[in-house]
Amino acid sequence: MKKILVTGGLGFIGSHTVVELQNKGFEVLIIDNLANTTLEVLDKITSITTIKPAFFNFDLKDRKAVQDFFNNNFVDGIIHFAASKAVGESVQIPLDYYENNIISLTNILQEMKVKNLSNFIFSSSCTVYGQADELPITENAPVKPAESPYGNTKKINEEIIADAVKAHGLKAISLRYFNPIGAHATAKIGELPIGVPQNLIPFITQTAVGIRQELSVFGNDYPTIDGTAVRDYIHVVDLAKVHIVALNRLLNNQQKNNYEVFNVGTGKGSSVLEVINAFEKVSNIKLNYKIVGRREGDITAAYADTNLANKELKWKAELTLEDALLSAWNWQLQLQLAVGSWQFSHKKAF
Ligand code: WQD
Repeated sequence: MKKILVTGGLGFIGSHTVVELQNKGFEVLIIDNLANTTLEVLDKITSITTIKPAFFNFDLKDRKAVQDFFNNNFVDGIIHFAASKAVGESVQIPLDYYENNIISLTNILQEMKVKNLSNFIFSSSCTVYGQADELPITENAPVKPAESPYGNTKKINEEIIADAVKAHGLKAISLRYFNPIGAHATAKIGELPIGVPQNLIPFITQTAVGIRQELSVFGNDYPTIDGTAVRDYIHVVDLAKVHIVALNRLLNNQQKNNYEVFNVGTGKGSSVLEVINAFEKVSNIKLNYKIVGRREGDITAAYADTNLANKELKWKAELTLEDALLSAWNWQLQLQLAVGSWQFSHKKAF
C-alpha cells in the first residue's frame, strides 16, 4: 500500500483529498498544525472512510520537527496543501504569509532531497495569472505580478519547486486551482471559514441560514454578462480527485517533464449573480443581498482552459455548479444542526 503524506490534510481541500486517497487504497499520513481547522475533522474523515489517517500535529516551519518526521516515516509521495490562504489577511500581515508559506515548503523540499524522495504535488492557484489577457486561461498565460502577498507566495513557491526539480531531480506537479467550493456528499466535511467568510459561497450559505444579515455583491459594473465578476467554481470533490490522478502520473512515471503545471477548473465561468440565482434554485431560498462597490484587488473574470488537464491527465470536472452549491448548503445545514445540538447539550449541563 503506497504511503502518501498530506500536509494541511485537515483543511478544506486537504480533508476531501485524504478521503479520496483512502478510497483509492492509499495509506495517508497527515501533518497539520490546526491553525485553520479543528481536530474534529480527523474524526469526520474516519467516519466517512472507516480508516483513521496517521496524524502528526506540528508546524512545518519547525525544521527539526520536519526532520524528525522524515527520519521516522517513509512516504511514496507528498501532497502539500499546508499554507495560509486568506487573500485579504495576507495584505495585513505579509511577513507572516511569506514566512509560513515559503519556509514550510523549503523545509519539506530539503528533507525530500536528503531522503531522496520524489513525487510532489503542490497546491497552487489561478491567482498567479492575475487578470489574464485572454480567456479561457491556459497554462501558458503569463504569470503576472501578484495582487496579494498570498498570491505572491504561490508564485514564489512554484519557482522554488521548479528550481528544486532542476537541481535535485525531484518530480513535481503544481495544480493551479480556480475557485474551490462545495462539500462532501455526506456533509461531514466542508469549508470551515473562521470568522466572517471572505469567500463568496460560505458567505452565501451563512446568509441563507441567518448567521449573516445580507450578502454584499462586490460590484456590478464589470464588463461581464451582468456586470458582476466571473469565476470558475469547481466542486471540491472534483478537485480532490484530480490530485489522485496527478499523483498516479508521478508514481507511474507518466509525466512528460519532471515539473508540470495544470489548470484545474471546470472551464465554465459564472458571475456572482448567476451563482446567487443557482443557489436560490437549489436551496429554494430567496437570498438577501445588495450591490455595493468593487472589492480592492478583485479581477473581472477568470475561468480555465482545461484542455491540457483533459488531454494529459485524462481528467475533467464532472460535478456542476448546482451540485457544488447544494452540497455547500447541506454542509451549512448540518453545521447548524451540530451547533444546535452542541448548544442544547451544553445548555442541559447548566
Ligand atoms: C469570488 C467572487 C468577489 C465575497 C480567492 C483567492 C483564490 C482562492 C479562492 C485560495 C468575486 C465576489 C465574494 C462576497 C462577493 N483562495 N464576492 N461578495 O477572490 O475569486 O479567489 O478565493 O486559494 O486564490 O484569490 O474568491 O470567493 O473571495 O470571490 O461579491 O462577500 O465573489 O468579488 O468576484 P476569489 P471569492
